[in-house]
Amino acid sequence: MVAELLLARQRSPWWLPLAVALLALGFTLGQGQQVGVNWGTQLSHPLPGDTVVQMLRSNNVTRVKLFDADPNALRALTKDSSFEVMVGIPNEMLQRLAQSSQAADLWVSQNVSRYVSGRRRANIRYVAVGNEPFLTAYNRSFEGVTLPALRNIQGALARAGLDSQIKATVPLNADVLANSRPPFPSGGIFRPESQALVVSIVQFLSQTGAPFVINIYPFISLHGDPNFPINFAFFEGAANSIVDGSNTYTNVFDASYDLLVAALNAAGYTNMAIIVGEVGWPTDGDPNANVENARRFNQGLLQHVLSNRGTPLRPGSPIHFYLFGLIDEDQKSIAPGNFERHWGVFTYDGQAKYFLDMSGRGVANARLVNAQGVQYLPRRWCVLRPGVAVSANSISFACANADCTALSYGGSCNFLTAQENASYAYNNYYQKTNQLPTSCDFQGQAVVTTTDPSIQPCRFIRQIIPPDDSAATIATTARISLLPLLLLLLLAILAV
Ligand SMILES: *[C@@H]1O[C@H](CO)[C@@H](O)[C@H](O)[C@H]1NC(C)=O
Ligand SMILES: *[C@@H]1O[C@H](CO)[C@@H](O)[C@H](O)[C@H]1NC(C)=O
Ligand SMILES: *[C@@H]1O[C@H](CO)[C@@H](O)[C@H](O)[C@H]1NC(C)=O
Ligand SMILES: *[C@@H]1O[C@H](CO)[C@@H](O)[C@H](O)[C@H]1NC(C)=O
Repeated sequence: MVAELLLARQRSPWWLPLAVALLALGFTLGQGQQVGVNWGTQLSHPLPGDTVVQMLRSNNVTRVKLFDADPNALRALTKDSSFEVMVGIPNEMLQRLAQSSQAADLWVSQNVSRYVSGRRRANIRYVAVGNEPFLTAYNRSFEGVTLPALRNIQGALARAGLDSQIKATVPLNADVLANSRPPFPSGGIFRPESQALVVSIVQFLSQTGAPFVINIYPFISLHGDPNFPINFAFFEGAANSIVDGSNTYTNVFDASYDLLVAALNAAGYTNMAIIVGEVGWPTDGDPNANVENARRFNQGLLQHVLSNRGTPLRPGSPIHFYLFGLIDEDQKSIAPGNFERHWGVFTYDGQAKYFLDMSGRGVANARLVNAQGVQYLPRRWCVLRPGVAVSANSISFACANADCTALSYGGSCNFLTAQENASYAYNNYYQKTNQLPTSCDFQGQAVVTTTDPSIQPCRFIRQIIPPDDSAATIATTARISLLPLLLLLLLAILAV
């Protein structure tokens, strides 16, 4: 036997060790190839959770971040424990959770424990306590409650016996860093006015072994500063590179990441794990928000981060990240800009907007996999009745109650005529209200059509069947309205 084995060994081809080594290398690289996405749920018509999870799986996504504890999403995620999940707590809940450890216990039992203890378990790894609570736009209103809420949630996780597997953290915007427009990443510090607070959060995170979560938005840098060098936002050019000592930065992502590394180093936390909680590019509602730029940014980002080269201050260290976002959200606030509802790599109905290679190998024209089995409302749209004058009031009403952001300056529908503008607005409102016949009236100015009125590249949407409860409401409306009649009939019969 031994002799045979030895002989066999001797006869094994010269390339065998090489193949084994390559396989091992492939395996090691494969280990680091984790793609994360933010699954936001501020939609009037969310896709069913199972449909989204199937879509994530088909696109090789392995990490999912939620902004709340949406049961539709979490229930679906309990059916596949291969996803690492981050569950979120909205800022509005921070005060309650800061004031009471019982409230925190209740939150953990209702929104974490039940999803990790049953027969089917979601692989929840993080709880995001608040979302960018120190954003200057929030006017310091969450500054006092964030750390106490973080402590209480971590305490509740510990009482539930979950603290070794699940870490509570606080996603912060890169604006907690001073000098966010670099010249010099190595000089990174936290903004002086929030320095003490951020450092006490960092200290707490380091005690519990939790990561620091930062959101990095080159698009916003560009949006907020007309002099921002656009090529520095992407991952191709050295034209605008920043030379910082012996390091050269060719993109703002690395510069922002290292600004944080430097700020953490300066505070004495040189080994703090970092997660990029949100990073991405929108496709509509602004001159810089379009499919070409979004594809260019996300493709460059994936190639860069999945190469596991790290950044100049953390070379060779894999970057843990979540794209923002998975799907467009038609109910997001547009206070920051009309682009807010268009961050999705996929449209509201789970259709890929552009080619994207999720493996990060830079395969040209790699196709994403669309959501399967999407159920649409009937083939009906609402348009301006031919020959009728456009009413600014009706358009304003429709747009205030639906989503007209694609009509805005720089948007994909900004080229429409005044009549087409009206049709776009009316249709959006009609779809938002589930094609309610009375929603396509506008004092007789609007009419339903069965021909898709889309004018490329402007898409006149047709909504999907709304989630269970509201679908049931619509489907039973007709039956319910018969009920009083039936009761009257019954009474009449009884009276006789
Ligand atoms: C997912 O990964 C598999 C195996 O590597 C690959 O064949 C497939 O093309 C990937 N799918 C997408 C959408 O990237
Ligand atoms: C659980 O999370 C949901 C969604 O964020 C929230 O509405 C609910 O109040 C939470 N439960 C508790 C007990 O806090
Ligand atoms: C910010 O807070 C100050 C003081 O509490 C208040 O006077 C001001 O109106 C707030 N501004 C906004 C935009 O909320
Ligand atoms: C269509 O509506 C958009 C958004 O309100 C506006 O900017 C544009 O000027 C309108 N177009 C016409 C031709 O009225």
